[in-house]
Amino acid sequence: MTARPTAPRTPRGEQFDHVQRIVLCTPRQPLVQHLLLQFVGTQSQARRFLAALGREVSHHPSRYADPEAQLSIGFSYRGLEALGVPLQVRLVLQKLAPSFYLGAPVQAATRLGDTGASSPDRWDRDFRLEALHGVVSLHNDGGDSARKQLARVEGLAAEFRVRLSAQPLRGENFSLGGPTERWVHFGYRDGLSRVRIKGWSHSPDAADDENRTLDISAHSPGEFLLGHPDDSGANPWTLVTQSRAVRSFFCEASFGVLRQMEQDEPAFRGWVEQRAAQMAAASGGAMSRQAATALVQAKLCGRFPDGRRIDAQTQAPLGQPKHDFDYRDDLDGKGCPFGAHMRRMNPRDGEIAHRLRRRPLMRRGAPYGPRWRDDETGPVERGLLGLFFCSSIENQFEHLLGEWADRVPMGNRDVGEAKDPLVSRHERPDARFDLPGGAGAPGGLKEFDGLKPFVRTRGTAYLLYPTRDGLQQLATEDDGNFWVDEVDREAFE
Ligand code: HEM
Repeated sequence: MTARPTAPRTPRGEQFDHVQRIVLCTPRQPLVQHLLLQFVGTQSQARRFLAALGREVSHHPSRYADPEAQLSIGFSYRGLEALGVPLQVRLVLQKLAPSFYLGAPVQAATRLGDTGASSPDRWDRDFRLEALHGVVSLHNDGGDSARKQLARVEGLAAEFRVRLSAQPLRGENFSLGGPTERWVHFGYRDGLSRVRIKGWSHSPDAADDENRTLDISAHSPGEFLLGHPDDSGANPWTLVTQSRAVRSFFCEASFGVLRQMEQDEPAFRGWVEQRAAQMAAASGGAMSRQAATALVQAKLCGRFPDGRRIDAQTQAPLGQPKHDFDYRDDLDGKGCPFGAHMRRMNPRDGEIAHRLRRRPLMRRGAPYGPRWRDDETGPVERGLLGLFFCSSIENQFEHLLGEWADRVPMGNRDVGEAKDPLVSRHERPDARFDLPGGAGAPGGLKEFDGLKPFVRTRGTAYLLYPTRDGLQQLATEDDGNFWVDEVDREAFE
């Protein structure tokens, strides 16, 4: 990692072999530890830390076997400053990625709906703007190699004066029905809906794609990797006026967002049970309490807890859990309400959002804390460590949370007034969550009200995940000259 990077990169077709693996592939390892870090030593120490650690970062290899343990690293804007990136790079970021430049705490209230108990002044200390320079994520199975990996990062941090969060954020995927199943708190199966990169057949996730028939979840590489055209054909990261070294640094990097969300299971379960009792009563006995509970959960999320969709006619679970579908069979929202979490987060070409601008995210999150038990007493801390990748924090992550989750109504077909039922702050308890056509048996409920903030944001970090070459550029001890290569040097003089 000390050698000077040579040939700068430009987008190289569809190999992506120098992109960090976490961006492209869902990690199969059940455990994750996120270490929030701050460079407290000199710039040279920060670069030497990265030079030593950079060798262990997992990239997408041309063969698809899952590594036993996987290491990924992303940097905040302040982290890049601490590493001494040159002015040209900082100016590009300020212009093309203003939210990344400002940082999540600055954007949170207006762009992420983080107010009240979720407001940034109440976030955990390690997420503060000045404290967060980067995040190292370790995915593993908790065995010996995991312990060694953690010890190695801690050793390097001590050697090069890098402050690590006192406790790593530790997530663990539940697997209730088999090693490939993933579940999250509030009792839902997760990891079903996936996006993929158009024309890229080298993904280890491809095995899951065998049954895909629709193209709805396929996106151009530029939705996730800088320097490629996005779904609309636009490519803001061509950077034609920049030096080749600057272009190379950004080429196929990705923006990542780490978001810690605490989930209040007793509040959620209590609310669901109340509405289920109402629903069962409204059905005049046609619906059991158990079936009503599952249907209430399904209406909030868009899927039943086990991942099956809602049949718009019968309200019963539909076939098998599917990841590849659109809402053509449910245009009126009688199955999946327009306001449901999934339909907001991905309307899948439906009319409720602008059809030409989809806003895909690669989701790599994992739950933390113990699973809910009905006999639970006392407070238990749990939630979701969301990790999302995209090429534009403004147009993708922030638009989903700040607009589609937090603004009402969601498109002109949603006559409800409530925000995203799972993730929003619901300041207005009287806001109605519309159930088009009514839910359940004849006489069923037409709306829910009284939604509570079931989720509290504990912190959010906006990060850049450079490629192997980008990491090498960051780690190179240099006075900044190599960022201005010979051809383009004249342009700066
Ligand atoms: C504690 C908070 C959250 C919970 C419990 C939660 C839960 C879920 C569940 C159960 C699903 C359906 C599973 C699937 O289709 O794979 C889902 C889908 C999804 N969620 Fe969340 N989520 C949370 C926060 C977020 C946030 C903060 C975002 C992004 C801004 C987000 C974006 C998405 C997206 C994009 C989908 C896929 C929708 C689709 O493609 O149909 N979620 N979520």
